Amino acid sequence: MSFGNHRRKANGDDEVERLVRRDLADLAASLRQHLSYQALMGLEWLPSELIPISQALPETLDDIRVSLGECTRCRLHSSRTHIVFGEGNPSATIVLVGEGPGRDEDRLGRPFVGAAGKLLDRIIAAMGRGREEVYICNVIKCRPPKNRDPQPEEVESCGPFLRHQLRAIRPQVILALGSFAAQFLLSSQQPISKLRNRVHQFEGIPVVPTYHPAYLLRNPLQKRQAWKDVQLLRSLLE
Ligand code: URA
Ligand code: URA
Repeated sequence: MSFGNHRRKANGDDEVERLVRRDLADLAASLRQHLSYQALMGLEWLPSELIPISQALPETLDDIRVSLGECTRCRLHSSRTHIVFGEGNPSATIVLVGEGPGRDEDRLGRPFVGAAGKLLDRIIAAMGRGREEVYICNVIKCRPPKNRDPQPEEVESCGPFLRHQLRAIRPQVILALGSFAAQFLLSSQQPISKLRNRVHQFEGIPVVPTYHPAYLLRNPLQKRQAWKDVQLLRSLLE
């Protein structure tokens, strides 16, 4: 800040005022950026006098992708090839949420492109939609080594980005794929077998939990139950 250096200059009043204004503008910009980051990381208690600032928070999927950046917030960044942010229609009526990228997704940077993705495409077709009409993403954006379960601190770093994606899209319904996604979205510890076959809510958006397509590949007899969940989801769409 150069304010102090200019304070005692003769006929420098205009210059001082200009510099003070510039410093205040810089300060406001960094505060806004800091609050925006805090909000993205899950800070929920912005005081009401800051509401004009919170309206400047990242709102579009592109903004959220920019905020994510070349993320190093958790240890998964060191073993990933690509961040798998999610893809599809930014005004989708249906969002499908999986757990996290596997090997194929990590290699290509796209969600559900492996074997489970092929089955997911058929689930989407059973919903009467094409893949490009829906939005597909995961709780975790980087592949856990050897596909191990994501750890709590990884979910804590990454989860806010999914919440913001869902707020940006505000679909008519969310299909939660498997226990991990369902438990995250519903803040529940219950297994998918207990959560499925019912409609829940995430921030006022209906959530239909169902089996993960990778589980269905190993347990094809459960496809009948998944099909029922798809019918339940269809009944929620206008
Ligand atoms: N399994 C998931 O949960 N997500 C993917 O993107 C791929 C496989
Ligand atoms: N366990 C899971 O995590 N998901 C399923 O879909 C089934 C069992």
